[in-house]
Amino acid sequence: MTARLNVNIDHVATVRQARRAPEPSIVAAAMLCEQAGADGITIHLRGDRRHIQDNDLYALRQTVTTYLNVEMAANEEMMKVALDNLPDAVTLVPENPNEITTEGGLDARANLSIVRAAVHRLREGGIITSLFIDPDPQQIEVAHEIGAQQVELCTAEYAEATLGARAAHNEGAMRAAHELRRLREAATLAMQYGIRVAAGHGLTYRNVGAVASIEEITEFNIGHNIISRAIFTGLERAVLEMREAIRAGSKS
Ligand code: PXP
Repeated sequence: MTARLNVNIDHVATVRQARRAPEPSIVAAAMLCEQAGADGITIHLRGDRRHIQDNDLYALRQTVTTYLNVEMAANEEMMKVALDNLPDAVTLVPENPNEITTEGGLDARANLSIVRAAVHRLREGGIITSLFIDPDPQQIEVAHEIGAQQVELCTAEYAEATLGARAAHNEGAMRAAHELRRLREAATLAMQYGIRVAAGHGLTYRNVGAVASIEEITEFNIGHNIISRAIFTGLERAVLEMREAIRAGSKS
């Protein structure tokens, strides 16, 4: 079965925040993505509010009709926001104020008590809880132990290996194949524990296909590459083309 696609629309808000202007509208973006067949909308509410704002989450909760996934850090401020707004899902991510984007997965093992408490509270609130982790068997064991319903495997290392000049060299191809194997093994282990498997970070129209061929992965969260293409093609077409890239990969 073809995996679902949640479109991460953070960078629509990035353009808006560049001018602190009302446009482009995050709600209009979400509606266009849904019209184009996105299975859900993902946003990352960061501690520094560099793109998505609290009002955006509120507005999207009222308007998104498919599935709303909010990425956030596992701290008290964010727990309160999640439980006040009740998105369909929360993905717990690590957050460092100096990072350009999320750098790797959450170390659920090193932060066991914090992550366990967050998963418990979110689940009590009726929110599906996902952990954004590296494709590492030890992290999956922890996800199982603390009752996370889903893991999102970080594809950043794989994506990096497929980019630009590096990918043209044999070394890049070998690294990509190695990272793909790690993703596949992690996805299989998570499935064995009955944990749903998502994937995301750094995926593009060109590299998503190989990841989509991993049957255990049932959801993708993809943002930057779709919004980048949308500048030239419009959002609906950009979403349609990513859905098609996932569909084509899942058949290979
Ligand atoms: N998944 C998670 C957990 C993320 O933090 C991000 C980036 O916000 C994404 C997916 C989407 O990554 P990209 O914008 O590179 O597609």
